[in-house]
Amino acid sequence: MATMADPRWRALLAALLCLFGASVCAGKLAGFKMASLAGLPLTLDQPFVYENGEKCGADTGCLTYTSIGERAGEDALGAFFEVVEWTRTQAGTSVVFASRSYGDGTQVFKQEFPDGLKGTSTGDKDLVSTAFPRVAFPSDPALRFVTPGGYMVGWTLLSHGSTQSDLARFRDGEDGGVVVLFRPTENNLTESVVMSALSNAMAASVSLDREASRLNWGVQGLAEEIPPGFSLEVVLHPHSRSVVRNILSWGETLRKYHSTAKIPDPTAEYLSYYTDNGAYHYYNPLPFSNFRDVVVDLYHYAVQNEVPIRYLQLDSWWYHKGEGGGVKNWTAIPYIIPDGIGNLYETTGWPIIAHNRYFSSDTDYARQNGGPYAFTIDNATSKALPLEEVFWDDLLDEALTWGLVTYEQDWLDRQYMYTSALHTDVGLAGRWLDQMGGAALRRNVNIQYCMSLSRHLLHSVTLPAVTQIRVSDDYMLSPDQWRIGVTNLLAHALGLKPFKDVFWSSRENADNFFKDCDLAFPESIWHPLALTHRYGGRINVTASGKECLPWTDFGWDDKYYGSGMALNLCRNPEDLRDGPFCYTKAGFDIPEEEWEWEYCAAPVCDVDCYFGDGALYIGGHNVTQSGLSCVDWAGEFGLSGARCRNPDGDVAPWCFVAEDHSQRDYCDNECPEAVEYSPQLQSAVSTLAGGPLGVGDKAENLDVELIMKSCNKEGLLLHPTKPATVIDLYFTSPEYREVWTGYSTVGDHTFGFIFLAEVEKALSLSSFDLNLDEAFLTDVLLWQNYPEGSSHQQVIAAGEDVILPPCGGFLNFCLFYTSPAISAGGKDLFILGERSKWAPISPQRISGVEVTSEGVSVSVSGVEGERVVLSFSDGEVFDVACEFQVSGSMTIDVLSRVCSSLMQ
Ligand SMILES: *[C@@H]1O[C@H](CO)[C@@H](O)[C@H](O)[C@H]1NC(C)=O
Ligand SMILES: *[C@@H]1O[C@H](CO)[C@@H](O)[C@H](O)[C@H]1NC(C)=O
Ligand SMILES: *[C@@H]1O[C@H](CO)[C@@H](O)[C@H](O)[C@H]1NC(C)=O
Ligand SMILES: *[C@@H]1O[C@H](CO)[C@@H](O)[C@H](O)[C@H]1NC(C)=O
Ligand SMILES: *[C@@H]1O[C@H](CO)[C@@H](O)[C@H](O)[C@H]1NC(C)=O
Repeated sequence: MATMADPRWRALLAALLCLFGASVCAGKLAGFKMASLAGLPLTLDQPFVYENGEKCGADTGCLTYTSIGERAGEDALGAFFEVVEWTRTQAGTSVVFASRSYGDGTQVFKQEFPDGLKGTSTGDKDLVSTAFPRVAFPSDPALRFVTPGGYMVGWTLLSHGSTQSDLARFRDGEDGGVVVLFRPTENNLTESVVMSALSNAMAASVSLDREASRLNWGVQGLAEEIPPGFSLEVVLHPHSRSVVRNILSWGETLRKYHSTAKIPDPTAEYLSYYTDNGAYHYYNPLPFSNFRDVVVDLYHYAVQNEVPIRYLQLDSWWYHKGEGGGVKNWTAIPYIIPDGIGNLYETTGWPIIAHNRYFSSDTDYARQNGGPYAFTIDNATSKALPLEEVFWDDLLDEALTWGLVTYEQDWLDRQYMYTSALHTDVGLAGRWLDQMGGAALRRNVNIQYCMSLSRHLLHSVTLPAVTQIRVSDDYMLSPDQWRIGVTNLLAHALGLKPFKDVFWSSRENADNFFKDCDLAFPESIWHPLALTHRYGGRINVTASGKECLPWTDFGWDDKYYGSGMALNLCRNPEDLRDGPFCYTKAGFDIPEEEWEWEYCAAPVCDVDCYFGDGALYIGGHNVTQSGLSCVDWAGEFGLSGARCRNPDGDVAPWCFVAEDHSQRDYCDNECPEAVEYSPQLQSAVSTLAGGPLGVGDKAENLDVELIMKSCNKEGLLLHPTKPATVIDLYFTSPEYREVWTGYSTVGDHTFGFIFLAEVEKALSLSSFDLNLDEAFLTDVLLWQNYPEGSSHQQVIAAGEDVILPPCGGFLNFCLFYTSPAISAGGKDLFILGERSKWAPISPQRISGVEVTSEGVSVSVSGVEGERVVLSFSDGEVFDVACEFQVSGSMTIDVLSRVCSSLMQ
């Protein structure tokens, strides 16, 4: 650490005065100023720390400074100017605060504890034990915020609002960690600042003082002490024009600071088969009785039908659970996978993406339970956490023998929230992830984060093995789970591959586990989320038949983001009421007292209809599948009454249909099954998100044609270079929520794409608005390729706005692409690319475009036996096909319209 003796330091006059004990220094820390943050009127307040259970602030004179210095320097982020203040608490502990300002306006604030600090707990997980910077902002309706919140990159509780009226739903404390403040200016520009921890993110929190409109950044509020030498940094990243560009460059700043270099990630590059929550085979081996038979059948089907599955994901159903549903040991349950996972791997050649969750308090691995490894055990929550890296070494070494390639760490949020040591010990949360990440890195194993809080997302920047991350809640056939444009942006900014989760490529998968009823289960191993009245179905009228208003009509989609609220469907956000309901009269212009709502007639699972095997069914249904009436149980199985029940572990509820109980029959009042309303939407979003892609139908329902829109013949995913993300207008108007853009880059050429879903109005947008400036440097051809049969084509001159037709309706979407004009033979040539794919131009397919005086040639990659058809336009659209005899590269000479292998 630099000291005042360090010649690089130029002591300020104030500092010298302080050294001589001048009274001017008492109390106030005067040296810090907020750099102009994109013009936003933010101010800094005096820091504080908790020590010996008491708040010790600079403004109360408890924290006083001993010296102050400033210097110019350079670090990974570039040249900076730094101000440092050395302070002492009343108890004599030294605390150092520093602020670095960079040329682009970025500011980094550092708090450092050379002596450590004792008694720092505030007793509240959502407060902070230390605060620097403390950023005050004006309460102003025009100054708005976006805060990712809760798990899945903040998707579940992401909130938007005005700093004047909506701070109640600002996500901070344990839920938050990334804050975007922004203010639209004229010319459709937006001033913004992105704030987050820059280092030690697992230990850091932001706590909003709602009364003072002030953000306190520091060590999370339950830390009992801070060890000597500990420090953490917070970055404030401004941009004067665009929120999207700011988030991207904030992410780049974090990556630059930590020299992030991720390891290659094959499971994000090839087609996978998933069995997680939403997949047909989630906890469901039907029609087989175990998962060996499921996988063997799937393998044969895939080979016969040329579905190029390359990886297999095994979800939480395969390993032994203990106390509280956590992991007892991470080995396969024999009756579920009879010959073990290694055997599956050998049979199929599919390496494994293996799910894991938190460890249970009775985990076999812990010394406390007779195992070999040091763990901390939280008896109150039945959770355990490994404390040594050798545990991860051994766990992964064992898993490598059965084919592990990607380790999926799920339930990151619950492990963090419900392991008290992760809060009391300030370094433990970071060590936990570092040990997991270190062991994975040494083995070249990738890690997928699932249910990440913002702190996990931020910490991942330091871990090369953490390459992919889930960006929305579990699929479960939800009509909202694909709305990932904003979390994609955060994940992509931080160098992670965003994963939308599994999807069905077919509309139906009969006998599935997912029902359109109002789930009212307690949390259990089989229903891992506490699904209290969590209706996810498609009913859009009330019980009395009145039409539901879209929640967006009165802003509840913002208030309760991520709970199925973007449409006009019956819902029960945050369990507000006793079941799904909707509003029939409401609006911004109607006083809330006058709003009207009604319950919807959504069937309640296991009350109105049976769910699963019906073991929990308690309803009054009394007729069997053959139309026979149930007779009274008359005490048998301890039951009475004439109704369908499953008291003996049968496959469905049943009842006796003869008075003497000599005959029984099954009941068929099963809850309605969920269907996938738009496999195309799921497939397109998964591909354009640029991360892993997992299909999860029953084998015979895999839609090969649809799946092949995402990949080549060998399952290599054809991704864009920059994934689909929201545009700036997302932040300023709900009308643009599902307008996403991205692009592919080949050489000097940028090929854009525009994804619109449920957009009711025509839009006029500039290339800046679309965040596609690079794609519009020349004239471009804008062309539509979805819905199929659409023929919209238009040449747009550089600088001209793009007019996009409406693309409205439930789960309806449109895809537009832009191709730059390439001057060839006196004409403009446009390369449309492989129109049968979601990403017609993908660097995985098109490796080069060469323009010479002789013409234009395009290098195309393909695999043995593949026929690749590329389209071009020179006024007329024409196709050129490449037939790959061997895997490799072929070249299309565009003028002669011939594709040939390059002969050396
Ligand atoms: C701002 O954007 C809207 C919507 O795209 C557009 O109608 C308007 O012309 C733009 N204004 C300016 C000044 O660019
Ligand atoms: C894992 O746990 C199960 C259930 O308690 C037990 O039967 C099995 O022996 C354990 N396996 C290992 C390798 O510890
Ligand atoms: C947790 O529970 C186990 C088993 O019941 C017991 O042996 C152990 O002492 C408990 N630990 C704590 C810290 O209470
Ligand atoms: C309500 O749902 C039905 C059935 O899914 C659909 O046909 C209808 O268009 C929906 N109505 C509205 C207003 O969205
Ligand atoms: C069966 O249920 C119907 C409707 O709830 C009821 O009217 C009828 O009495 C029941 N029959 C028996 C035998 O309990």
